[in-house]
Amino acid sequence: MRNKITIVGAGFVGATAAHWCAVKELGDVVLMDIVEGMPQGKALDLLQAGPVEGYDLHIVGTNDYKDTANSDVVVITAGLPRKPGMTREDLVSTNAKIIRSVMENVVAQSPNAIFILVTNPLDTMTYLAKQISGLPRERIIGQAGVLDGARMRAFISMELNVSVENIHAFVLGGHGDEMVPLARYSTVAGIPITELLPADRVEAIMDRTRKGGGEIVSLLKQGSAFFAPSASTIQMVEAILKDRKMILPCSVYLEGEYGLSDICFGVPVKLGRQGVEQIIQIDLTEEEQAAMDKSAALIRSSMAALEL
Ligand code: NAI
Ligand code: 2OP
Repeated sequence: MRNKITIVGAGFVGATAAHWCAVKELGDVVLMDIVEGMPQGKALDLLQAGPVEGYDLHIVGTNDYKDTANSDVVVITAGLPRKPGMTREDLVSTNAKIIRSVMENVVAQSPNAIFILVTNPLDTMTYLAKQISGLPRERIIGQAGVLDGARMRAFISMELNVSVENIHAFVLGGHGDEMVPLARYSTVAGIPITELLPADRVEAIMDRTRKGGGEIVSLLKQGSAFFAPSASTIQMVEAILKDRKMILPCSVYLEGEYGLSDICFGVPVKLGRQGVEQIIQIDLTEEEQAAMDKSAALIRSSMAALEL
């Protein structure tokens, strides 16, 4: 039997995520949105690309949660994106209402699914989803670090003119402007970038990474990035459905790891068919841990606006 993937929110990130699911043949796709006709139209369009691309999948669009029943993975992209000048944290109250209603409905239809949150502010929305659903932390996972790491990898590749496949980058912490790119753990063919680039270039790459989302918002003038965010989300879906045991930075509920508790925060985890199968602890210097603590403080300030 094929896997079933529901994507709630059929906007830019959701629809593009459905496209990656189809071309990677990860499973049947349900695109769910509150706007009538739009998810149905996008799903039909994507289905009709199947004969050209060679995928035989069921792809449906809907406004009815019943169609999402018994999904293996549910991706949640429903919510407003930011506008130029806005931080991700400015979205908290509007998107919290949306996440509450979406979680209530999707969990009722697919109580055994693994849920991947994308809606911003990411760590706060992942925390909200975890707390209101009461689901185990292994099955409520936020996407941010894969995207932030991909941005840093792209910038390193541009700087050194090396294949992106040779480049690994770890960006931990919250998905805000205080995210924590870790230069020591970012490598080109196994060599830390701190040994390949002068300190000012490393700092410039880390700074552009921290501001990577805002750079695209400013260019687009409306809406935010969606190609790399959706590709990053679907890498997580693939790791789960294929039980790949991939180590990826994801936002998960912490219970003392990295000295933090009662917060969803970006740390390296092992993703497999059970969801988060392990939280990987890596050694941090005092300076790196201080950056993690500063990033956590920013997330906690947006969590304070949640009415839990
Ligand atoms: P978009 O505006 O294109 O799509 C959002 C969709 O959500 C719309 O189609 C809207 O009708 C739908 N929606 C709103 N309320 C809903 C509800 N109650 N039930 C179902 N659907 C509902 O926005 P886009 O660009 O797709 O971004 C979506 C979210 O993802 C934003 O919050 C954005 O900030 C966030 N984002 C997060 C990233 C990350 O790395 N975590 C990266 C990129 C975007
Ligand atoms: C991004 O980083 C807006 O969170 C989104 O592109």
